[in-house]
Amino acid sequence: MQGARERSGTGASTPAREASRRGDPERAALEDLAGFARKARRRAHAPYSGFRVGAALRTRRGEIVTGCNVENASFGLTLCAERVAVFKAVSEGLSDFDAVAVAADSRRLTPPCGSCRQILWEFCGDLWIHLTDLRGRSQTLRLSQLLPLPFDARNL
Ligand code: THU
Repeated sequence: MQGARERSGTGASTPAREASRRGDPERAALEDLAGFARKARRRAHAPYSGFRVGAALRTRRGEIVTGCNVENASFGLTLCAERVAVFKAVSEGLSDFDAVAVAADSRRLTPPCGSCRQILWEFCGDLWIHLTDLRGRSQTLRLSQLLPLPFDARNL
């Protein structure tokens, strides 16, 4: 145990390391993804709401693209962190997404808003949604749980 601690760098216990120790690699990978979302959150441009959000989107190949919310004085032009991440990834030619982590600092975990659910469904299908905060709380669910009976190309 001590040896493993030393090999892992600082030795600080993180949710990802805990999950890895428990033999749950997918949980550990989602906690790692949450770390990217928390880091992206620091770049949020949220002078109007003061509500900073970060997102990290992962492809099946392991590529990670982050986003943060970007607000505007006109309010209505504000983009959520999740959509910034999706549009960045799509514009870079990435596809085949399997998970997104969302990080915010709020009393309740922050799920993607309705518009983001629709955009995530369009480009990512039924991916894992990993909600986290800065205190280490988290919840993982499928997009289909947040957006049952989605409207998509099959309806056209
Ligand atoms: N926001 C996000 O970036 N993602 C969410 O999932 C919920 C809301 C942003 C939009 C706005 O800048 C601020 O949070 C308050 O709504």
